[in-house]
Amino acid sequence: MTERIAHICSFLGRADVFADVGCDHGYMTRYMLQNRLCKRAYISDISAASLKKAETLLHDEIAAGRCIPVVADGLDGLPERCDLVLVAGLGGEEIVKMLERAYIPPRFLFQPMKNAEKLRRYLVAHGAKIERDLTFSEGKERRKYYDLILGMAEGGDAYSEQEFRFGRDNLNGNSPYPFLFQAREELEKTISRLGRTMREDSRAALVRRKTQLEEAIHEVTGDL
Ligand SMILES: C[S@@+](CC[C@H](N)C(=O)[O-])C[C@H]1O[C@@H](n2cnc3c(N)ncnc32)[C@H](O)[C@@H]1O
Repeated sequence: MTERIAHICSFLGRADVFADVGCDHGYMTRYMLQNRLCKRAYISDISAASLKKAETLLHDEIAAGRCIPVVADGLDGLPERCDLVLVAGLGGEEIVKMLERAYIPPRFLFQPMKNAEKLRRYLVAHGAKIERDLTFSEGKERRKYYDLILGMAEGGDAYSEQEFRFGRDNLNGNSPYPFLFQAREELEKTISRLGRTMREDSRAALVRRKTQLEEAIHEVTGDL
């Protein structure tokens, strides 16, 4: 299990019916079943070849009827509503498309690889409550950063523009560190890119991003 997968698992809670959408290897479902966190679990993937990996890993659980493999695009092909849905390792836009076609699961854990802002905006606009919204990192030499969004379909939420851009827990002091590293790295790159020749509209977008990053870093460090 990679550091990223272990970190995602640590945010998984109890459920009756769990679904791991885009499961590929199936490690997260194995964690749910081994720790008896759900009664049954769907492993689903759009690719039969990817799903095969999870089927091999979870062979015994499938034989016992506790794990059900499904080749499906998003939530569409799941034969029943699941009360906890994990989607990890896909893009935020892809996750939004899945939700648009189906529903926001009663409880969800999303780890978008990019476009987390779009996903946050979709969830909040559609009445979801976001309980945790943070960046975590993997690796020491070449650090990689991941967004993690945990919440529920109902309850509603209010987000500021900066929270949509950067994630609420990253700004409110609950999870400052991986985010601060990431924001400072991006700020450095942005400043360096501003030294190059480019179109005026590209420059204006970079200047805007620089200001947003500086304000976010200031917001976090001001609380530390
Ligand atoms: C990068 S892997 C992530 C695997 C695992 N969830 C993780 O986080 O380590 C993405 C997986 O999602 C699957 N996938 C991509 N689009 C999908 C969709 N619309 N519905 C279901 N699975 C999808 C791919 O086939 C692939 O196995």
